[in-house]
Amino acid sequence: MSPVTTAKISNSEHLADTSSSVSKRASTLSSSLLGWYAVCTSEEIKADDLYFFSFYNEPLVLFRDKDSKVRCIKDLCPHRGASFRGGENKEGIITCPYHGGRFSAEGECLNLDRLTCNHIIDSNYNNYAKKIHLNQYPCIEKGGYLYIYYSGESNVDPKDIEIKYQLDDILPDSFGFNTSEYAYEQVFVDFKCDWARIIENHLDILHIFWIHGNTIPDKDVNRNTITSFNQEIKGDHRYIESVYKHKDKDKEEFITLRFVPPGRVMIYKGKPEQARYLQVLDHIPLAQNRARVIVRHYRKFLKNKLFTKLILFKPLQHRIFYKIFTEDYLVLKTQTFNQQMGYIKKDRVKLLGEDKMIQYYWQWLNMKLDESNPWLIHPTDVHTNTVYNDIPMIYPPENPSLVNQTNRSIIFNLILRVIPLGLLILLI
Ligand code: FES
Ligand SMILES: [Fe+2]
Repeated sequence: MSPVTTAKISNSEHLADTSSSVSKRASTLSSSLLGWYAVCTSEEIKADDLYFFSFYNEPLVLFRDKDSKVRCIKDLCPHRGASFRGGENKEGIITCPYHGGRFSAEGECLNLDRLTCNHIIDSNYNNYAKKIHLNQYPCIEKGGYLYIYYSGESNVDPKDIEIKYQLDDILPDSFGFNTSEYAYEQVFVDFKCDWARIIENHLDILHIFWIHGNTIPDKDVNRNTITSFNQEIKGDHRYIESVYKHKDKDKEEFITLRFVPPGRVMIYKGKPEQARYLQVLDHIPLAQNRARVIVRHYRKFLKNKLFTKLILFKPLQHRIFYKIFTEDYLVLKTQTFNQQMGYIKKDRVKLLGEDKMIQYYWQWLNMKLDESNPWLIHPTDVHTNTVYNDIPMIYPPENPSLVNQTNRSIIFNLILRVIPLGLLILLI
């Protein structure tokens, strides 16, 4: 069996500062690894479409029913266990590609007579209908995100799944950000690396100056900056955050990193009510060594749609994000390998003062993995058919087609803007 403990930080007791303040702070976070996750965005789920992904190795599907409500089902036909890939969704009625079993959005089989003899249906309908039923997870669409409550056990009626943590606990608006006041841009990125390594990366303040120093369009973020900050750690049962303040510059705030378990990181500056920008990063544990990130960039000062279009805000942001994630990916792959091979041990690595948020994260993660380890619910082993492996890798950097498309769109739009300007100059 492959190491199902991939996400667990081995030897963390040596690595993390086990001082009572760190563990006490981490233990105040009430959420577990089973809970609410943002798994997709509204635009991705079109009517009459089936959106396939996996979660902690479990293949799932999102689709809209006839009222446009999004459902999340286990990607397994209850007749003979086929996937719905190759099947169809027509106004929320799902058809299996294998024998044509049709299912309502609630999961009930609508053509049982196609799958079994009439006399069996007549004499034993209820028994069959109950067994041949789709299984679902609770799913809520809010603020342009699709959230599922992942319990590890889908259910015929998602209402029967016990919700232990409220969705409100992870929503930006619950923390004082008024997201309706912002314009936003977002990208999806897939990585062949461990889910936890990416969250760590987003809680790692030091790396941005070096690895992203030439990419982030901020004059204060570059390779020549010597980074040392005063950190103010805050939080409650829903989150933990570090406010990084310059030691000089009148102790001005540089940035705040907030971890909202299980899978969300927020990056902003200033008080939430006044922050001019907010970055929300959602980490989706597709499978072992496969993870997806949705990064959404909210900006308060770019609400004018025509202006943002004119300055190519969207494609330029995409370009920067893809570049930043490619820079991270280079390291995350090897770091995942080193983690899994057990090379990351006390005597080989040492967390520094600025790595405090990572310490809190490790402490929290190990605590929660001991409580309920989602990787153990649907474990894969070396003999598992790899049919699902290619499905999740649809976004850059592994797949460069979207990067190329973005670059082409930038060039095309630049030409479109330059030609009329040139003609105007000639006329003058
Ligand atoms: S496996 Fe789906 S209808 Fe038979
Ligand atoms: Fe990074």
